[in-house]
Amino acid sequence: MQHFHHLLPLSQFHHLKHNTPFATTSSSFSVFHPTHIHTEAAMDLINGVLNLVAPPFTFFTMLLFLPPWIFFKFCIGILRSVISENISGKVVLITGASSGIGEHLAYEYASRGACLALCARRESRLREVADRCRRIGSPDVIVIRADVSHAHDCKRIVDETVNHFNRLDHLVNNAGISQVCMLEEADDITNLRPVMDINFWGSVYTTKFAVPHLRNSSGRIIVLSSSASWIPLPRMSIYNASKAALAQFYDTLRVEFGSDIKITVVTPGFIESELTQGKFLSHEGKLVVDYDARDMQVNLSPVMKVERCARSIVKGALRGERYVTEPGWMKMSYVWKVLWPEAMEWINRLMCMTTVGGDSRDDTFGKKVLDISGAQNILYPQSIQSSEMKVD
Ligand SMILES: NC(=O)c1ccc[n+]([C@@H]2O[C@H](COP(=O)([O-])OP(=O)(O)OC[C@H]3O[C@@H](n4cnc5c(N)ncnc54)[C@H](OP(=O)(O)O)[C@@H]3O)[C@@H](O)[C@H]2O)c1
Repeated sequence: MQHFHHLLPLSQFHHLKHNTPFATTSSSFSVFHPTHIHTEAAMDLINGVLNLVAPPFTFFTMLLFLPPWIFFKFCIGILRSVISENISGKVVLITGASSGIGEHLAYEYASRGACLALCARRESRLREVADRCRRIGSPDVIVIRADVSHAHDCKRIVDETVNHFNRLDHLVNNAGISQVCMLEEADDITNLRPVMDINFWGSVYTTKFAVPHLRNSSGRIIVLSSSASWIPLPRMSIYNASKAALAQFYDTLRVEFGSDIKITVVTPGFIESELTQGKFLSHEGKLVVDYDARDMQVNLSPVMKVERCARSIVKGALRGERYVTEPGWMKMSYVWKVLWPEAMEWINRLMCMTTVGGDSRDDTFGKKVLDISGAQNILYPQSIQSSEMKVD
């Protein structure tokens, strides 16, 4: 206190001393120190200058350097389409390989001769996938029953893979679930925690345990984020957030790892799988199959065949792509999100919401159009129009 009292009139000093909650600790008063006032003014000045300078600097830097950079990337892209990683004999660990995208990623890697560690909770389904992988070219496949929302399971799948194969080259963080309910419908919001636990933490845990082995092999992480990481689809708020968290997490790791471990972030639109067949986490925290909810969410979007998507992901990863988005046109939705977010919100409200405050189970505009026109037959693959769901 002794170092500032001479700066204040005595009356104010006494007022502060007796009436403020800071009066007893001399360090708390240091906010009034003259050097702090100067620092604050300097910071305001620096921020003011940056506010003025940053926009034109960004504009002119982009104008100058972006065109040659895009041309350079185009040339590198052509080179990569010719020279891509040979995965034959290397080891790939895939989480969520019992159905959908993960299952078909396993087939893609198998057809290129990779050894596989397949993980999910439905073991008998995994064994069927493993058998097919062996038939189409994988020299060795192991199956690991695990729940990626538990850190000890994630450690076990990495340990079992490395103990069996002695190495790990690609880690594919694919396991995921989605929720379909609005925030206000969830009486107990903690019922939706599994979405974050599986989608985000499941990938983080597995990555953490795999990193030393991926460093040894100069390996690659492939992570299934989603276009939902930037599209504000209603009823999927926790899912969207989990996918946005993944994208930012792995973009940050890219900086931390440099070229030691490469990263491919995959951001698909709607792809044929059990998820687009209507398998969701309900607001009661149970995995249910709900076709009406699926139609409300998928709406009038075309659903891409899973084989094509898986092929494109593996090709992209082997070419060293940083991002893979399938179908390709979904990339344009990112431009809309950045340049005109209001339009994107408006379209999502129009297509996926009922009247404001209305019952979310009422048909949405998009679903009504879908039902009347029968457009599902064109937009959705046959497999997700059937009620058959693989069980263990
Ligand atoms: N389909 C799409 O339109 C789409 C779009 C964008 C992103 N994605 C993402 O792609 C990934 C794959 O999904 P999908 O569409 O192929 O759906 P899917 O057919 O339902 O596959 C999900 C996979 O994750 C596994 N899984 C779920 N919870 C798990 C847990 N706790 N521990 C271990 N494995 C678990 C499932 O196996 P078990 O049930 O046997 O454990 C299954 O193999 C997900 O991350 C999803 O978010 C999908």
